[in-house]
Amino acid sequence: SRLFIVLTAAGSGTRLGANTPKALVTLGSDSLLAHALHHLPPSNLVVISAPPAYLAGFSQVAAQFASPPPLVVPGGASRQASVLAALEALADVAAPITESDLVLVHDAARPFTPATVFSQVVAALQQGCPAVIPATPVLDTIKMVRNVSTPAREVVTDTLNRSQLRAVQTPQGFPLPTLLELHRRFAARAATETSAFGDDAALAEAAGIPVAVVPGSPRSLKITTPFDLQVAQLLANSDCP
Ligand code: CTP
Ligand code: MG
Repeated sequence: SRLFIVLTAAGSGTRLGANTPKALVTLGSDSLLAHALHHLPPSNLVVISAPPAYLAGFSQVAAQFASPPPLVVPGGASRQASVLAALEALADVAAPITESDLVLVHDAARPFTPATVFSQVVAALQQGCPAVIPATPVLDTIKMVRNVSTPAREVVTDTLNRSQLRAVQTPQGFPLPTLLELHRRFAARAATETSAFGDDAALAEAAGIPVAVVPGSPRSLKITTPFDLQVAQLLANSDCP
């Protein structure tokens, strides 16, 4: 069976606050995009969704990763739209698609995901799971809050049962025809970041497809804030698990 990888990298990185798209921010001498590409497992093809204004720069980075060189496509207004754009490009270049074709959707914002996480997602797909996500236990106590007005602040309404909570990561894996159909079905939601699904498993959940969970890794941290970038700097310089 064939394995395809969609690498989402079309975000602007608003919360990171750099003056380039987040995937082009450098860690050591390499961009986050290059670090992410370096950590991907072997596959038939990688499709990268890039900010439309930066296609040339992203293609230049992608060209340094051969066998075969990743395809760079313009992303959309939401992560969901960027995944759909990459899947439509895949549907074109990888036609005809069969039930045995697998796809992993991974965030370039998680440049250090270990090989074991990728291989456990793929193994669960090969066992027949229709949707697979990596996740880790939640270590913090998580509470629900609501706003009150006098004085204006938040108050606690509930404490969630931590044993049932998981922090979800990427890569998220699916049979390619399944994920393509889901993204086409829910395309209307992709128009804005507020209406869009936050991850790919959410589309499967909305369709009633069971989502299997495999162990994630703390090394798979998503770089969102300047603090995360500092943590990533330490990870880049270490081989610790
Ligand atoms: N992403 C994308 N297309 C979008 C928005 C996000 O491909 N329209 C990708 C990002 O490039 C990232 C992943 O989805 O790899 C997770 O998104 P996030 O961490 O939120 O990155 P940004 O959207 O770039 O950051 P911010 O929300 O702070 O602007
Ligand atoms: Mg975002």
